[in-house]
Amino acid sequence: MPMDRSGFVVAANRLPVRWHEEADDWEFSPGGLVSALRPVLNERSGTWVGWTGRPDHALEPFVHDGIGQRSVPLTKNEIVGHYRGFCNSTVWPLYHNAIRTPEYHRHWWRPHVAVNRRFADTIAAALADDGTAWVHDYQLQLVPDFLRARRPGARIGFFLHIPFPPVELFGYMPWRRPVLRELLGADVVAFQTRRGVANFSECCVRYVGARPVQDGLEYDGRLVRLQCAPISIDSEGFERLARSPEVRDEAAALRERLGPHRKIFLGVDRLDYTKGIAVRLKAIETFFRRHEGAAEECAILQIAVPTREKVSDYAAMREEVEQLVGQINGEFGTTGHTPVTYLYRTLAPEDLVACYRAADVMMVTPLCDGMNLVAKEYVATRFDDTGVLILSEFAGAAHELADALLVNPLDADWMADRVRDAFDLPVTEGIERMAALRERVLAHDVFRWSAGCLDAIEAATQPA
Ligand code: G6P
Repeated sequence: MPMDRSGFVVAANRLPVRWHEEADDWEFSPGGLVSALRPVLNERSGTWVGWTGRPDHALEPFVHDGIGQRSVPLTKNEIVGHYRGFCNSTVWPLYHNAIRTPEYHRHWWRPHVAVNRRFADTIAAALADDGTAWVHDYQLQLVPDFLRARRPGARIGFFLHIPFPPVELFGYMPWRRPVLRELLGADVVAFQTRRGVANFSECCVRYVGARPVQDGLEYDGRLVRLQCAPISIDSEGFERLARSPEVRDEAAALRERLGPHRKIFLGVDRLDYTKGIAVRLKAIETFFRRHEGAAEECAILQIAVPTREKVSDYAAMREEVEQLVGQINGEFGTTGHTPVTYLYRTLAPEDLVACYRAADVMMVTPLCDGMNLVAKEYVATRFDDTGVLILSEFAGAAHELADALLVNPLDADWMADRVRDAFDLPVTEGIERMAALRERVLAHDVFRWSAGCLDAIEAATQPA
């Protein structure tokens, strides 16, 4: 169906819809960004531009539930070079403080440029001359300036969901200058933390000669505003789901199965090497070793969501995690109790929230993370102020959630002590901490985040 050009376009690597075989229709994917932007897109008759996740999958533009959808097809070679290669084996590890060694290949950079140009073409085809485009995340970091060349009258915002690294690391990138120049094509470039803003600003000053001005940078005769805008979740939506009778029943049944007298520790992560799943399991192992009988009193539930399985570092990590789970269960299990329950799958939102409700302790221990929404989701579901959050200092969320039990996940002793602290935490202290966390998460939800970002983009003014 042909569509008019729209005043508002969102672009992200993935489309917000997926094909539902049984229903024979598209459905919205669960996820914070999609739920935050749906009302705004509906209100403004907006369009979302993204990839379906399949090779050579070209679709005619269509409308789903009032929101325009335009797919950007990627060839098999582009999936290898742009998506698995440049996005997930160069940028992803580099921007996450090089915790895995980034690889730099010209034959990955070229498809990255080609795919970003195609996104810019598709956005331009969907966007009114004076419309607003909001571009998301590292896969599309070259889009802002490519789009400005095609729609000079548009307002363009860019939000980076992952960290932006310090200048000493970013400087390794052979394409550091084009990356910065294309990003600076936006009117507003927004980051999860102040650290991200500062790192980006320093890189732009050093490598492309941008000039720092109040709230941003001056580059190429234009003002680019830099914004710190920590993303959040639909906090009320999570709380509502947590209070529903179905979720309460499922949480109670889960507790019963894991052992009602046991302390339940939960981890929920995409199976990504940034998430610190192995160091978490090792801390639990140390805790069991140091405290006789503890393994019998605990149930550990680790949900690992499959992701990027064809990237070799991810496959290696899966082996490491599964080996550790086997080792802990082999050493500390009994015929009546398996201490670690490990699930490698994606859970439906109700099942996920039932896990949050069943867990006495949530462990979020990334080595580096833009934000980490799992930490916020857990907090939102603890409507009775129970539950303990162990949180890595290296998650963006730690800037807001300082009342969690913070930890450096690479400090093995501190980690094992934090597991013990969570195990023994006095009830009143737990309640005080959770109440403070909840206040923050309920007040700063994803709707407030998107409104703040869009206000900044639409307020952007350029020198006459
Ligand atoms: C992170 C990134 C997102 C990405 C998601 C899933 O959260 O910031 O941009 O969509 O991981 O990864 P995938 O490669 O499956 O899209």
